[in-house]
Amino acid sequence: MRTVATFAEVRALGSGIVGFVPTMGYLHEGHLSLVAAARRECDTVTVSLFVNPLQFGPGEDLDSYPRDFGRDRLLVERAGADVLFAPSVEEMYPSAPLTTVTVAGVTAGMEGARRPGHFDGVATVVAKLFAGIEPDRSYFGRKDAQQLAMVRRMAADLSFPTRIVGEPIVREPDGLSLSSRNIYLDDAQRTAARSISRGLFAAAEAVTAGERSGRELERIVASSVRAEPGIELDYAVLADRDTAEPLGCLDRPAFLAVAAAAGATRLLDNVHIDRIEGEWVPDVGVRLDTRSILYKET
Ligand code: PAJ
Repeated sequence: MRTVATFAEVRALGSGIVGFVPTMGYLHEGHLSLVAAARRECDTVTVSLFVNPLQFGPGEDLDSYPRDFGRDRLLVERAGADVLFAPSVEEMYPSAPLTTVTVAGVTAGMEGARRPGHFDGVATVVAKLFAGIEPDRSYFGRKDAQQLAMVRRMAADLSFPTRIVGEPIVREPDGLSLSSRNIYLDDAQRTAARSISRGLFAAAEAVTAGERSGRELERIVASSVRAEPGIELDYAVLADRDTAEPLGCLDRPAFLAVAAAAGATRLLDNVHIDRIEGEWVPDVGVRLDTRSILYKET
């Protein structure tokens, strides 16, 4: 595997179908599942590692975002990537960009409403990465469902010649969705955080049993999280998969999204719901057999 810091080097190393996995590092099995999917489907696999200052608001955790370059490089290499693109902030933003990308509508609610400027920062860096790397296929986690919807829309609106591929959420054995920020949870918060996936799994079962009401599905998740002291529900919303707009009724592909705070740590999770052969089928993701590598020496 080659580690490079300029777009010109990344492009020179790409041959055949180029698969691309953007990340902010401190990798776990969720990120690595994206690399594995790219490895199965592409000739060259490029992973980017860049903690993008543009997508952090004032008072957010840019400075304390977990970073371990040596660990990440080893994990990406073991996962079979060909190229690791790890630019410095100066390389990505020689000066503050005057051109930024805003995807309206899709970013209006949920995370967009809570974190002003966040999605503009994500859209701008992802557009730069698409333009500089020229991938044929780009892999994103369903974990960040609103981000995935936004990236799909941006790629379509701006005619980026890359196919956006969404991959299932990877979870701890007890259901908690993997996030680099999980390392901040203390034992009590970690226990309380299980109520999020528990609520989502209960809602997924309700869907399978025939429930279609957005309000009822949201209530099932909200009551699970609210029953737990030590975790604060922000929202539980059934949203259109493509527009991320709230849905009163499950009548098109959707995701049921949750955000909650355990202390200073913001936790996101969701269940995607697709219509497959006339049936509404929830996708709760995949569970690891053992505790995530987030907590292990590599
Ligand atoms: P980051 O949080 O590092 O996530 C990188 C990719 O991994 C995203 O597509 C995210 O959805 C996916 N991912 C994270 N946790 C996952 C899980 N448990 N299961 C499956 N996939 C998971 O998302 C970002 O970085 C940034 O916003 C980025 C797109 C890189 C732009 O800076």
